[in-house]
Amino acid sequence: MRKKIVVANWKMNGSLVDNKKWYNLFISKQIPNIDIAVCPSFVYLAQAQQLLMSTKIGWGVQDVSEQIHGAYTGQVSVDMLKDFGVHYAIIGHSERRSICLESDELVALKAERVLLSGLTPIVCVGETLEQRKNNQTKEVVARQLNTVLELCKNHDLTKLVVAYEPVWAIGTGLVATPEQAEEVHKFLRKQIAECVTGNLANNTRIMYGGSVKPDNAAELFSQPNIDGGLIGGASLDAASFLEICLAAE
Ligand code: PGA
Repeated sequence: MRKKIVVANWKMNGSLVDNKKWYNLFISKQIPNIDIAVCPSFVYLAQAQQLLMSTKIGWGVQDVSEQIHGAYTGQVSVDMLKDFGVHYAIIGHSERRSICLESDELVALKAERVLLSGLTPIVCVGETLEQRKNNQTKEVVARQLNTVLELCKNHDLTKLVVAYEPVWAIGTGLVATPEQAEEVHKFLRKQIAECVTGNLANNTRIMYGGSVKPDNAAELFSQPNIDGGLIGGASLDAASFLEICLAAE
């Protein structure tokens, strides 16, 4: 039985004051049966660690360097993340693929670095609207995921989390239907079985992301291959995020 996971991706939002209000609202709630985490900007990790340390809520980052240390201006290493008790690292988000031109190969190197460090990578895959219209969805997500699996299949992949995030659904209000999402999730699970093992495929959590809101979360999360959600816009409001977490329980 895969434990559901719901993760807030705050992107480049938040402030010390606003984050604290969010944490305060959330900390008092009991949602024991799922994994919950929040990914603020790097600069707010110390605050997340301080305020979440004694709670069941994990914290993570939205990116990480594939390098260990050295002359990489502006980058952040896994060891630095460990100093702040980080559990999760989102890797290959479509905004990083499109804005920062991250390739499948770079995403795979980052995933490998995170796995080797013992943190949990959340590897994002997803097609653009044009690719979907051209019937290339499976080809695209398979290429994105398989590049990671091929590089990492000799490492311990039990911590791997995958996020299917159709690019056309991110921040647009257009959500994949539960059937559309389920079809891709099932396909991704099959890829893991073929590339690594059936056992890993059965145990890997595959979350959905893209305009998840309190009113559509329950139906998405009830699909057999959808194991939770990666939440952008709706996670900025603590009350909405809480409703989404409750829908996953
Ligand atoms: P959204 O973003 O929920 O605002 O669509 C999801 C994401 O980018 O992870």
